[in-house]
Amino acid sequence: MIHLDDVTLTFPDGDGRVTAVNHVSLSARPGTVTGITGPSGSGKSSLLAVAATLIRPDSGRVLIDDVDAAQLSATAATELRRDAIGIVFQQANLLPSLTALEQLAVMNELGAPHSRPHRSAVKEHARELLGSVGLADQMNKRPHQLSGGQRQRVNIARALMNDPKVLLVDEPTSALDQERGASIIDLILRLTDERNTSTLLVTHDLVHLPRMHAVMNMVDGGLDSVRTDAVVSASAS
Ligand SMILES: Nc1ncnc2c1ncn2[C@@H]1O[C@H](COP(=O)(O)OP(=O)(O)OP(=O)(O)O)[C@@H](O)[C@H]1O
Ligand SMILES: [Mg+2]
Repeated sequence: MIHLDDVTLTFPDGDGRVTAVNHVSLSARPGTVTGITGPSGSGKSSLLAVAATLIRPDSGRVLIDDVDAAQLSATAATELRRDAIGIVFQQANLLPSLTALEQLAVMNELGAPHSRPHRSAVKEHARELLGSVGLADQMNKRPHQLSGGQRQRVNIARALMNDPKVLLVDEPTSALDQERGASIIDLILRLTDERNTSTLLVTHDLVHLPRMHAVMNMVDGGLDSVRTDAVVSASAS
């Protein structure tokens, strides 16, 4: 469960400050996808950065389960991010020299040494995830040997390596055509259900919104309209 409570974020802007996120509250339950939409510059990526604990808000709370991330030390926030949050940016940011399998396995090296599971278990988990994103036959390819859609699948699988509770995805389809974009959205919906993540998904593409459990529309940093869907219940958690 992720809960943003009255979050405000400003950035320095000339002599003053620009308000990127303006008193936003939202919750996403496990097993649900919340779509976040709105015009360019409306604060979607800023909101995601706050949810990811990458930026501390000026005010408000970011609760991951019951932990207030905004109150954690930088070290504790890094740990929380590593263990509980999966982040997928628009650009896949894959390392050019690593194969798909290695892109996932390297996530394990970022952890504290004592918490590292055995290498073979890590590889097994990486293989399982790559299989579940449809890349069972592409595991040994490097990024330049993969299509844009396949790279985005590796990116998503990598974000799931540490079994995050929260999955944050920023415009995953903007570099893809309609059909490939739709299949990435399908994938995110399915993985959210299977892995029981609380997923926030930023998208410009309105065609995908009806399939999401809830939709938030941002305008000028604030939430303008909200659709929550009480009929779709969260999967058992
Ligand atoms: N690091 C920063 N420093 C200063 N201003 C910033 C910074 N990041 C974002 N902003 C400003 O905050 C506002 C919200 O930006 P944000 O990137 O969150 O918008 P967005 O909704 O994601 O837009 P897009 O759809 O174009 O990705 C904009 O006015 C932007 O210029
Ligand atoms: Mg953005």
